[in-house]
Amino acid sequence: MIMALAIFLLLGLLLSSSCEAYKALVVFGMPSTSHFHLGNGVVRNLLKDGHEVTYITPIEYKNAQPNLRQIDVSSNFDVLPTYQINLKHLMEAPTPSGHRKFVKLMLINLVVKTLEHENVQRLLNDTNEHFDVVIVEHMMADLSASYATIFDCPLIWVSPVEVNALSIGLIDVLPNPAYTTDAMALYTAPFTFLERLEELWMRISDSYNDYMVYEPTEEAEYQRLIVPQLQKRGRQAPPYSEVRYNATLVLGNSHVSTGIALGLPQNYKSIGGYHIEEEVKPLPEDLEKIMMNSKNGVIYFSMGSNLKSKDWPEEIKRDLLKLFGELKQTVIWKFEEELPNVPKNVHILKWAPQPSILAHPKCVLFITHGGLLSTTETIHYGVPTIAIPVFGDQFINVKKAVARGYALEVKLSHSIAAELKVAIQEMLNNPKYRQRVKELSYIYHDRPVKPGAELRHWVQHVVNTRGAPHLRSPALQVPLYQRLYLDLAALLLVVILVLKVLLRNLYHRIRPKKTNVNIKKKDKKN
Ligand SMILES: *[C@@H]1O[C@H](CO)[C@@H](O)[C@H](O)[C@H]1NC(C)=O
Ligand SMILES: *[C@@H]1O[C@H](CO)[C@@H](O)[C@H](O)[C@H]1NC(C)=O
Repeated sequence: MIMALAIFLLLGLLLSSSCEAYKALVVFGMPSTSHFHLGNGVVRNLLKDGHEVTYITPIEYKNAQPNLRQIDVSSNFDVLPTYQINLKHLMEAPTPSGHRKFVKLMLINLVVKTLEHENVQRLLNDTNEHFDVVIVEHMMADLSASYATIFDCPLIWVSPVEVNALSIGLIDVLPNPAYTTDAMALYTAPFTFLERLEELWMRISDSYNDYMVYEPTEEAEYQRLIVPQLQKRGRQAPPYSEVRYNATLVLGNSHVSTGIALGLPQNYKSIGGYHIEEEVKPLPEDLEKIMMNSKNGVIYFSMGSNLKSKDWPEEIKRDLLKLFGELKQTVIWKFEEELPNVPKNVHILKWAPQPSILAHPKCVLFITHGGLLSTTETIHYGVPTIAIPVFGDQFINVKKAVARGYALEVKLSHSIAAELKVAIQEMLNNPKYRQRVKELSYIYHDRPVKPGAELRHWVQHVVNTRGAPHLRSPALQVPLYQRLYLDLAALLLVVILVLKVLLRNLYHRIRPKKTNVNIKKKDKKN
């Protein structure tokens, strides 16, 4: 309570004292709708306060205001191989956690391609450009930290996923692998013995790969793409290792209601849900009518924006339509193509206003792929879910949702319709899932400030204090050998060795007398 009051007062003070507009560069290069939504959340909040925003994005931000300048990198859609997210491919060979190295190198390449993009080059080439803060989405590659180095201003990372080892490692020492994972892990704490070993092994092999492969790769690109820009501005290039760990803040798309309650560095701020607009937009008239007229509630089904409808096998589409047709509920299915023989209670939408549907009191169930944005939205609006994870962090999101008691998991398979039927019956007949999600929704909303306001506050704080050095973890200044007390261990080892030598010398000095005695004894016997 006192804490809440203090934060409230502090906010009031800051808002009244510092409303000067600043210039921000926002970089969200991932060619994906959900990442675009996260970027929009940042941009929308900064524009709200009247700041000047430059937005590097592969998708256009619609209805832009004059204080927004967009830098188009839509060619990023050609950089990422999309066969990875092909449904058929994933059904035949589900490899959710493998290929860590492959994914990491692919994402480094994406950052390089974004930096090399003609439109971005034009921005970087202009030595008159100036920014007060750079806000970049962190997608595994650290090289995008160099935007802030070029413009010599504070860097803020946005982590698109829950609190994890990788995002903490940007601003502090890595958390203990005995109870923390990274975003691609397949299990949550508490770990079994084998899971704990696997996590430790991953941490060690990641560090090894970072040292041998990732950092040298990024460093080479840094020398090629960034150092000339610094020279052009008459500045000496700092070493890359300094650039990548120079962030002032991590703004995490995370919250304890959806993630874990880990002790966090002072400059890690959980602002999960900031991308959701505070006011729910009204539904289109026809959709409102469909939802209001459903006597037994509405089931909303969407597999997100990455899985394309053309990849769905025909027999699965047919089985799902048959299953939905047998239900008493109305089903709204977000699917990009027309389907033949759609039952009366099923409505196919090419595009769905997801927040407005989930917010509707008639919505009783959400069948989802378990992407982080959908997971956050389902808690935000308090709707229980059946989740069908297919890619990336969806597996861990769904594991957590099931463990929290508001979701059921259904595996992607050829018999998915039969399994889904069982899960739907359980969900609709057992009230515990709905109760649980309402509890979590209360926890999610019960914060001293709304996530959007918190975002605006911390960005302003970083600008006002030029990088908020007072928030940085002292651990970054302490080398590994000191953190592990290896110097103490070395000292103890030396002391032990010296003692051993001393004792041996002492022993040797005493021993001759002893042997004399022994010889005398022997002599006597003889
Ligand atoms: C940016 O500058 C580099 C040389 O510093 C030049 O090769 C490149 O063509 C320029 N690009 C644009 C788009 O201005
Ligand atoms: C580190 O960040 C500060 C501001 O927070 C900035 O002025 C400085 O140029 C950055 N240094 C490097 C090496 O990026």
